[in-house]
Amino acid sequence: MEKPKDRSVAVVDVLRASTTMAYAYARGAARIIPVASIEAATALAIQLGEEVMLCGEREGKRIDGFHLGNSPQEYTEETVAGRTLLLTTTNGTKAIERCEIAREVVVAGLVNASAVVEYLVAAERNVTLVCAGKFGRFSMEDGLCAGMLVARMREAVEGDLELGDSAGAAEIIYRSSPPDTLSILRNCEHGRYLGSLGFDQDLRVCAEVDALSVVPVVRQGRIRREDAPAREDRISQAANDRPDS
Ligand code: MLT
Repeated sequence: MEKPKDRSVAVVDVLRASTTMAYAYARGAARIIPVASIEAATALAIQLGEEVMLCGEREGKRIDGFHLGNSPQEYTEETVAGRTLLLTTTNGTKAIERCEIAREVVVAGLVNASAVVEYLVAAERNVTLVCAGKFGRFSMEDGLCAGMLVARMREAVEGDLELGDSAGAAEIIYRSSPPDTLSILRNCEHGRYLGSLGFDQDLRVCAEVDALSVVPVVRQGRIRREDAPAREDRISQAANDRPDS
């Protein structure tokens, strides 16, 4: 029987933790350490004693005394390049922490969906998709993104995919949704909440499918950056690996 640690896990938190992490790496952050609580983040910052940045949100807003909130737009080259980020968010970083038994956890959003699929397919392991949701409840935007991952994996493996029911339901959500991801994000529960806080521009950023090719991967409690191998590289690698006939 396969152990959970032998599966690839992708955590999906479209609004906004996954998107923020993808942008942090795309803008040059050295490493991101996901932390479940504010207290743990503050204690770790003291312990590391290096120039770390405290980042994250509660109720969508920057935590008092923290350097950055959870708006992907704050994560520019000027603010994060070369820096270590301690990130705590209400649902996203908690979901990551709950998956720590897995060999590796990939962070997925709409902005890096294709890169994540390439990465997962190349890893050739069974995959568990974890939707962060909101306070333990289902979120439309995460279901939609999970469904997009499933649909794209299906294409990548030419249909040879066996699904559990929740992954099947996510694929149905994705396939029956209109292509306008921004309007879906603006109308879902958390999107409406973020809109009411004035974060409409964040919704635009989070809705942009495949804007980035980075794949944040959590190993041993730290998130590292991976880039999905370019298809051509994988093909030539496979050709090199082929035994001589
Ligand atoms: C979370 O982890 O709950 C979020 O990413 C919330 C947010 O900042 O929109």
